[in-house]
Amino acid sequence: MLRTHTCGELRADAVGQEVTLCGWVDTTRDHGGAVFVDLRDRYGKTQVVAAPESGADVVEAFKKLHSEDVIQVRGKVAHRPQGTVNPKLATGEIELRVTEVRTLNQCTSPPFTPTQIDLPSEDLRLRYRYLDLRRPAMQQTLLLRSRIIKTMRDYFAEHDFIDIETPILGRSTPEGARDYLVPSRIHHGKFYALPQSPQLYKQILMVAGFDRYVQVARCFRDEDLRADRQPEFTQLDMEMSFVEADDVLAVIDGLVARLAKEILGVDVSTPLPRMTYDEAMRRFGHDAPDLRFDMEIVDCTDLARRADFRVFRSVAEGGGHVRGLRAPGAASQYSRKKIDELTEYVQQDFGAKGLVWFRVEPDGTLWAPVAKNFQAELLAEIAQRMEAEPGDLLLFIADSWDVTCKALYGLRKRLGAELKLYDPQTLHCSWVVEFPMFEYDDEEQRWVAMHHPFTAPRPQDIEKLQSDPGACRAQAYDLVINGSEAGGGTIRIHDPRLQQQVFDLLGIDEASARDRFGFLLDALRYGAPPHGGIALGIDRFVMLFGGLDNIRDCIAFPKTQRATDLMTGAPGIVDPRQLAELAIEVTDFEDDETDEAS
Ligand code: AMO
Ligand code: AMP
Repeated sequence: MLRTHTCGELRADAVGQEVTLCGWVDTTRDHGGAVFVDLRDRYGKTQVVAAPESGADVVEAFKKLHSEDVIQVRGKVAHRPQGTVNPKLATGEIELRVTEVRTLNQCTSPPFTPTQIDLPSEDLRLRYRYLDLRRPAMQQTLLLRSRIIKTMRDYFAEHDFIDIETPILGRSTPEGARDYLVPSRIHHGKFYALPQSPQLYKQILMVAGFDRYVQVARCFRDEDLRADRQPEFTQLDMEMSFVEADDVLAVIDGLVARLAKEILGVDVSTPLPRMTYDEAMRRFGHDAPDLRFDMEIVDCTDLARRADFRVFRSVAEGGGHVRGLRAPGAASQYSRKKIDELTEYVQQDFGAKGLVWFRVEPDGTLWAPVAKNFQAELLAEIAQRMEAEPGDLLLFIADSWDVTCKALYGLRKRLGAELKLYDPQTLHCSWVVEFPMFEYDDEEQRWVAMHHPFTAPRPQDIEKLQSDPGACRAQAYDLVINGSEAGGGTIRIHDPRLQQQVFDLLGIDEASARDRFGFLLDALRYGAPPHGGIALGIDRFVMLFGGLDNIRDCIAFPKTQRATDLMTGAPGIVDPRQLAELAIEVTDFEDDETDEAS
């Protein structure tokens, strides 16, 4: 070993010991006769000192040190002189009086240093990721990630789950995103697809009798990226046989409680609360509602029908919806200018036509420029329906169900944060269950699976597969944490006829089902147990447990918003010989553009 201790280890009880430390030069302070260096590694920092008694050559060597040089120092641990103890540093009582120093690697002037106060741009951080990963915050996040994964693995091992790896080079498993393809050298014109998830393999493992499967699985999806999405991400993937939805939920309830306790020291009571998809849309306008605060959507369509106000009445009479939110105490904080900003926000981001607002006056009456279009009695009824209190701001959207959901969800999210309606430290976990089986894709004019095509309908809805697919509810469940979808799963179809029926509805005829999923349909005929499971987004767990708002900060080597790796330059151009071997010809090259992280 090149060192006897780490830079976070030495305390007063080590005074007098001869030790050797290795690490990075964090800062140097040259006080003429003595040179002080903060030496850093992932465990902490220790002050190391070259003073006249260290010898002239050591002092000289210290004077030449630069930020981020890697050095080895040997010396004696000493109490810091009175008045120089640093209570903020774990090693702050002591310092190392150096007698020998060796430079292990000299750092050329770095583009930024890990402990500089201003965070460099994300592009720079990603380009020099090794410097960025030296930052204490990044080290803590990757440590958190490692602890979360370890707790997950321990938990599933204790519950009899078997860890089984599934292929990366496989056939496309449809999860709704575009596949990443890998050309075959041996079979020209044929391609592997990187898995969007291990979905079909884990179902096959159930048919194979493994009963309880778990895997920390890398998934690949070529989709539009956002702050909480990466093209390659990691799932805690699991599957169980002979279970119903409640059984899967109970296993995950236990895991979430264990993680909250072990990682954050927080007690989460189980079973976690559940709400149906329909209820979530009605009360919060979204299938992953943030339940850290109230502020529910209130339906006023019936009242709006009676208003003289054209916007309300025409929408209500035309089959649309008029729904609103009560922003508590917001009247004084939201000037006309800020309300105009909210109006622009719902128009631009959600396609709403406008935003109607009322201020609740000290006497409880509603005031707004449009108030003159309402009879006083009707306003009083609206105030009552909204449970309005003096000082509140009431906000309404009149539109289709879809637009009112989206716009009010967006408004609620924004107002919740701006009005500080919740403590960002709290962790709120819940389930949304009974999702629709299908959504109608207006562009393609066909039904698409809301989760994936292997999802089982609720038994009482099977007959609706023919008569009313839109009303058919699935045995599907999403884990929601602080308004994010942290996981999702379903009970699967284990009856090949029902599976074909669902394929038919999705427009996948028997021939193409056979071509794409023949192995699954076959397996379902060779003794398939009822089964179901779930996958949790590990990167999202790290974000949520670490209180981070950018998924790239949770991954050691993430991709940019344009799916590139700024450090290695991936994706890159390949040797023409490689292409020739694959029988691939490139017909279009992108212009080399500068890439940006976000
Ligand atoms: P689903 O597609 O819902 O389900 O994915 C499960 C969870 O994975 C996370 N996730 C992502 N995280 C980061 N970047 C992405 N691009 C990304 N996409 C998804 C989310 C999500 O809840 N095979 C099914 C699971 C099952 O049915 O058992 C599946 O993959 O947190
Ligand atoms: P207008 O009559 O179009 O000038 O709109 C009067 C007010 O109603 C403005 O504050 C608009 O922002 C708002 N408004 C218009 N259409 C809608 C709608 N569909 N939903 C909510 N508010 C609307």
